[in-house]
Amino acid sequence: MSDASAWPAQRRITVRDLQAATDRGERWSMLTSYDTLTAGIFEQAGVRALLVGDTSAEMVLGYGDTLPVTMDALVSMVQAVVRGTRTALVVADLPFGSYQAGPEQALDNAVRHLKEGGAQAVKLEGGRRVVPQVEAITGAGIPAMGHLGLTPQSVNVLGGTRRVQGRGDAGEELLADALALERAGAFAVVLESVPAELGRRVSEALRIPTVGIGAGPHCDAQIMVWQDMAGLTAGRLPRFVKRYADIRAGLLDAASRYAAEVADQSYPDTEHSYA
Ligand code: KIV
Repeated sequence: MSDASAWPAQRRITVRDLQAATDRGERWSMLTSYDTLTAGIFEQAGVRALLVGDTSAEMVLGYGDTLPVTMDALVSMVQAVVRGTRTALVVADLPFGSYQAGPEQALDNAVRHLKEGGAQAVKLEGGRRVVPQVEAITGAGIPAMGHLGLTPQSVNVLGGTRRVQGRGDAGEELLADALALERAGAFAVVLESVPAELGRRVSEALRIPTVGIGAGPHCDAQIMVWQDMAGLTAGRLPRFVKRYADIRAGLLDAASRYAAEVADQSYPDTEHSYA
């Protein structure tokens, strides 16, 4: 059950608020957001935390995977999301190449996301291999979110971004990674595209919240890419995507009518012209 009065109305949600919600058994939601207007709408809807994800490479910039988006591009989007919100916790993704070189690089870029972007937390992909990075970031007082299971920045090793991860022995490895991230100080862990049973095991084993995306119903929170959730993306989508609207059809209809009215000169009419 959601207890709206337990969430701050006059200040930003913090990672402690997310932990408190998890401790009282409340499920909370996250969405991706990359711009001011959607950020404000999602906050108004009661989405507690927004991720300025590297999926912006695909959803905003038109690339085929998440690898090309840069720190500079993400920092601008983080600024826009922060400007559009008052209470939502803003988590900024560390893009490919911004933390893999080591803890120092990770900390420098995490600091950029807070100092220049105005984010309150950062997210990075990987388990035990990024523990030094997580320790450096959290050691500097910056909340860090982990990301396990399908980690799209490793697309070239995984051989695609549609595969379910963590089946069989890989589940034990993932659990060990999750526990290592918690020990390193992560405030939450995203679990992407893993069997629901593994989502349950990891959620029961961790004190910190698990945030599922294709990880079943037992995670403490859920996240979706907003364009998938709202039906803006086209084509075949992963099984876990539920479309809550058909924004694509609505936008196509609006733009088609606009183009037709310009062509037939019914827009602009006198109502939409200055005297
Ligand atoms: O970048 C992103 O949007 C993400 C979510 C899919 C969890 O990492």
